[in-house]
Amino acid sequence: MDDDLRARVDFLREALAYHQYQYHVLDRPEIADAEYDKLFDELLQIEIEYPEAAGENSPTARVGAAPLAEFEKVRHRRPMLSLDKCTTIEALEQWVERCGTRLATDQPIALTCEPKIDGVAVALQYRRGQLVLAATRGDGDEGENILANVKTVGAIPMQLLGSGHPELMEVRGEIYIGLEDFKAFNERALARGDRPLVNPRNGAAGSLRQLDSRVTATRPLTMFCYSLGWAEGGWAPQTQVEVLERFSSWGLRTNPMVELIQDTTKLGQYLAKLSDQRQHLGYEIDGAVIKVNDLNQQRLLGSVTRKPRWAIAFKFPAEEATSVLEEVVFQVGRTGAVTPVARLQPTFVGGVTVTQATLHNMDEVKRLDLHIGDRVWIRRAGDVIPQVANVILNARPDDATPVRAPTHCPVCSAKIVRANDEVVARCSASRDQCPAQLKEGLRHFVSRLALDVEGLGDKLIEQLVTEKLVTNAADLFTLSRASLVGLERMGEKSADNLLAALERSRKTTLPRFVYALGIREVGEATALALARHFFTIEALMEANLEHLEAVPDVGPVVALSIQQFFALDDHKDLVRALQEAGVTWPEVEREDAQAPLAGETWVLTGSLERFNRSKAKALLVSLGAQVAGSVSKKTAVVVAGTDAGSKLVKAQELGIRVISEQQLVNLFEENNIAL
Ligand code: IVH
Repeated sequence: MDDDLRARVDFLREALAYHQYQYHVLDRPEIADAEYDKLFDELLQIEIEYPEAAGENSPTARVGAAPLAEFEKVRHRRPMLSLDKCTTIEALEQWVERCGTRLATDQPIALTCEPKIDGVAVALQYRRGQLVLAATRGDGDEGENILANVKTVGAIPMQLLGSGHPELMEVRGEIYIGLEDFKAFNERALARGDRPLVNPRNGAAGSLRQLDSRVTATRPLTMFCYSLGWAEGGWAPQTQVEVLERFSSWGLRTNPMVELIQDTTKLGQYLAKLSDQRQHLGYEIDGAVIKVNDLNQQRLLGSVTRKPRWAIAFKFPAEEATSVLEEVVFQVGRTGAVTPVARLQPTFVGGVTVTQATLHNMDEVKRLDLHIGDRVWIRRAGDVIPQVANVILNARPDDATPVRAPTHCPVCSAKIVRANDEVVARCSASRDQCPAQLKEGLRHFVSRLALDVEGLGDKLIEQLVTEKLVTNAADLFTLSRASLVGLERMGEKSADNLLAALERSRKTTLPRFVYALGIREVGEATALALARHFFTIEALMEANLEHLEAVPDVGPVVALSIQQFFALDDHKDLVRALQEAGVTWPEVEREDAQAPLAGETWVLTGSLERFNRSKAKALLVSLGAQVAGSVSKKTAVVVAGTDAGSKLVKAQELGIRVISEQQLVNLFEENNIAL
């Protein structure tokens, strides 16, 4: 490659980086897309011809690279913390006051106020201005290197602009998808027949989890940078404002709504303004973040239990809007539970269009005195399913009709019954008799934590049930190639794949099998506890209430539900049929009576600092303990972390031994468990 060409490559790179910045960071493109593409293609051509010209951080790397086998783990040099929250101005003012007390100053504390972006936190490392690493938050101490994915985000410079870059620094911020981009992306996805993204936050998180960065490159991600993780070699900023100003001068995208406030009385104004603007920002926020501006003061304030004392999140109340109730439909679940769902006139609430809301149960419908045609308040908080909060009674039209509880299952027409003390109404048909229950039961049976049958999706289940090829879970294992190939959209290859997946899932484990049965109240954790306690399915099927209640975390309600399940001949037959169809599992290992904590049930409560809960749990299990979620007479020991609440109180009431996190650490160390 000659000097002229080298110079051309440098020119193209710089030009492309500049135009990317104008477009993605400043939102002020100076050239048309086609012109940009021309420059891009020219560079790409040269790089193909002269592979030595292709640097890692070339603008051409934005299109993504070959898929990774897995993400590399990265330990954060300084933990990525979470934030304390408050919801009232009073609480916010108290926080400012506490900062003053801790800093022993009666001078006003300068604060920055910023929107709290609802996206995914990431940490970017720049070495002498070059992007060299990008990590997810993970558990705060250890995340994953998602550099290949992050390089596809146009707003993130691979090479910083300007000068004066430190030797190495970590920039932290939030990657998100803007609302317009989200809508446009989903419209395109639907037009292609692809699955749309559930919501912007989920979409951002899912996109960053892709092992194939070429997929990430198709997602409209962008980023706001909001804090400095750390810096070494040549930059020691004094304030948060200085950090953000420098970030922008280096081409890092920062939020234009950041304000410096010298006076606490201005906090309310800022929050009111932000709340007013919320609908027009073009991205989802769930509140504001207030930070102490002076970085030295931040250091003095420090942090407690993974939350800094120098910052706090002010959360906006859940978002509300009104709509009109058009219809109430009744959905039948796997256990026959009948759930009313409100169909609504489409309404835009907090960035998404809502057309349905859950009504939970008939009691809720009664409480609301819901009528078809009513104008209702819809509330949506973050990711949760929208809810009908209230009815606007004086807007009720004359022809509004009350919502009546169905007397018969909308799917199989069996009677709907409601046990005296239960809120839930249920279809009285057995699972095999009601197609809705059967479908939901099968969905559960093949789900990932159950038998994990790959490729058996909702549509296929629907067909199998409608065509009566499957009347219970055991029938899945008798499906033949010939019967499958006759189904819609089922080629020979897919049929073979499905049969192979079923074959694989025949070999399972007892906990998965118990969970897969779909017994009411028996989740994954309870299934595990049951398997560990009874060792065989036969013993579980024969257990009486007393035996069942001896299992950690199994109380009277769960015990009764298990007993009732196996009292039905249909269910006993199902278990037998599944075993006859070749579903097997290895024998459950008998608890090692020698294990130090054999036979003991432990409970963890409060937050732990040295490890996360699942790690602590796994370590306890490795010592032979069973770990339960609630404290009862069966509990041997409760480990109380910071902010332990009602479980600690209960343990004290019952006189159960309580130990600290440090004592737990000591126990692990005594047993040669390295942390
Ligand atoms: S500062 C010490 N600033 O909120 C915490 N965080 O609840 C440093 N977030 O994990 C975070 N917008 O993902 C900060 N302007 C902002 C933010 C922000 C959103 C997220 C961030 C963090 C979470 C904490």
